[in-house]
Amino acid sequence: MQIRVPGTTANLGPGFDSCGLALNLYLTLTVGEVQDKWEVIHSLGEGIPVDQTNVIVTTACKLCPDLEPRKLWMTSEVPSTRGLGSSSAAIVAGIELANQLGNLMLSQQEKVTYATLMEGHPDNVAPAILGDFVVATKIEQEVYAVKHSFPETGILVCIPNGELLTSESRDVLPQTLTYSTAVTASSIANVMISAILANDLSLAGKMMEQDLFHEYYRKNLIPHLSDIRETANQFGAYGTFLSGAGPTVLTLVPLAKLKKLQSKLERNYPQAMIKELEIERNGVEVIH
Ligand code: HSE
Repeated sequence: MQIRVPGTTANLGPGFDSCGLALNLYLTLTVGEVQDKWEVIHSLGEGIPVDQTNVIVTTACKLCPDLEPRKLWMTSEVPSTRGLGSSSAAIVAGIELANQLGNLMLSQQEKVTYATLMEGHPDNVAPAILGDFVVATKIEQEVYAVKHSFPETGILVCIPNGELLTSESRDVLPQTLTYSTAVTASSIANVMISAILANDLSLAGKMMEQDLFHEYYRKNLIPHLSDIRETANQFGAYGTFLSGAGPTVLTLVPLAKLKKLQSKLERNYPQAMIKELEIERNGVEVIH
């Protein structure tokens, strides 16, 4: 059995901790035989545990403590600590592992709720489970998530080679916003979502670039954001935003304009990985 979980981009600018989009980058878990101890075989570097302390295993065992240990093989195209949902993908893989091996018959809603409570916010885990574009909120222990179809678009990501921990990127955020800023920030998010649902990516992209919740406070951590945004605008992109907590920057661009922008960004950022991505419409998948 294989479990395949997509990476995700979160926030889309003003949809902070609420909006997310699934992407065609995958964490794949292959489930092997029962054995004495949990073992996670991967080549993703020393920072990722290979035993029962791996987050996939701890998540699965939290949900289903009686699981028999297994050998697992993990591969991942989702780069770690880059703002593309790698930790959420691991949590979702753990939930699906428990669901399959423990025969839990979890509903999508239950998976989204468990994953959100473990991750703290729904914007990466919800699209990783449901696929496509998801707007969600967590109110105390309740999670509400609505899946929508995101309009067809070209997607370019600029993935810097340096890491940025989500905790570090959240530490620079303010404790409070004034009432009037919060009202404006939320109205920008409302128009952004409405424009997406109306298939108007030009307006959605404009709103994505007007976020007041987080990008301003993170700009010193992500100095390349405003430069990429300016270049992308010159090349006719819809909009550019920080992917999750960064440091990856994501640009939505009409497909006909994507290649030219991609070449320009490759020239401007030779150290970064500039990659074309697509929307993953279905979310986590189990292959028997
Ligand atoms: N909404 C989160 C943030 C995504 O921007 O901090 C990263 O987990």
